[in-house]
Amino acid sequence: MKKLFVCALLFGLLASVPAFAQKTYVNGIDSNYPPFAYVDEKTGQPAGFDIDAMNWIAKTMGFKVVHKPVAWDGIVLALANKQIDMIASGMSITEKRRKMVDFSDPYWEVSRVFLVPADSKLTPADILSKPIKLGVQRGTSEAEAIKQEQKEKGYPFELRFYESCPLAVEDLVNGRIDAALMDSLPAGDAIARGKAVKKAGVHGEPDQFGVAIRKGDKELRALIDEGFRKLQADPYWKELQAKYLSK
Ligand code: ARG
Repeated sequence: MKKLFVCALLFGLLASVPAFAQKTYVNGIDSNYPPFAYVDEKTGQPAGFDIDAMNWIAKTMGFKVVHKPVAWDGIVLALANKQIDMIASGMSITEKRRKMVDFSDPYWEVSRVFLVPADSKLTPADILSKPIKLGVQRGTSEAEAIKQEQKEKGYPFELRFYESCPLAVEDLVNGRIDAALMDSLPAGDAIARGKAVKKAGVHGEPDQFGVAIRKGDKELRALIDEGFRKLQADPYWKELQAKYLSK
């Protein structure tokens, strides 16, 4: 009994010494970006491809991770300001973001699609040549890209900005907008959830997803890059894809 107590005491003491305690990193997520990151309706807990991947990596690499919902528009600032330590939440690696944060190696590639109501006849060419209403999520790489394209090419659409992709999908279904531009996986997720929408076609170049970390945070970057290499060589990687990314 006494031995046990001493062991427990020793263990407790050791765990409180920084060199032995596992570091905890806060992952900022968009809680409304299925299938990569979202809050599960049933459990109320963060869920998704990026959440499970990061939990596996943390366990394998010996650190702790907690997932904290943060508004997407401003999430990069939250990282720079140390409110969070990383963003593993379907974030595209962009030159603009690179000015403020560093990125892990890319771990996924996504194409961008136009999503339209299920009964719509709009083609991508129509969307770019008619005065329609086009929805995008605020603060995304696709919002930046399409704004820039519109400026250069004078497209006649009116852009509408949303806090999340599911909110844009709701307005598509209600007829408040004619089309939405988003990554193909959240679009596929909306279709799989039975929303009356369909993909009208791909637009632009694919994006690479990476985990954002604070500038110069080499320690965490190494843990994440090494963690992804291990994960990608593990059968769990295929399992995760089948669970989340097969739509
Ligand atoms: N391509 C987009 C970006 O990186 C996806 C953004 C949406 N991701 C998210 N978790 N909301 O900006």
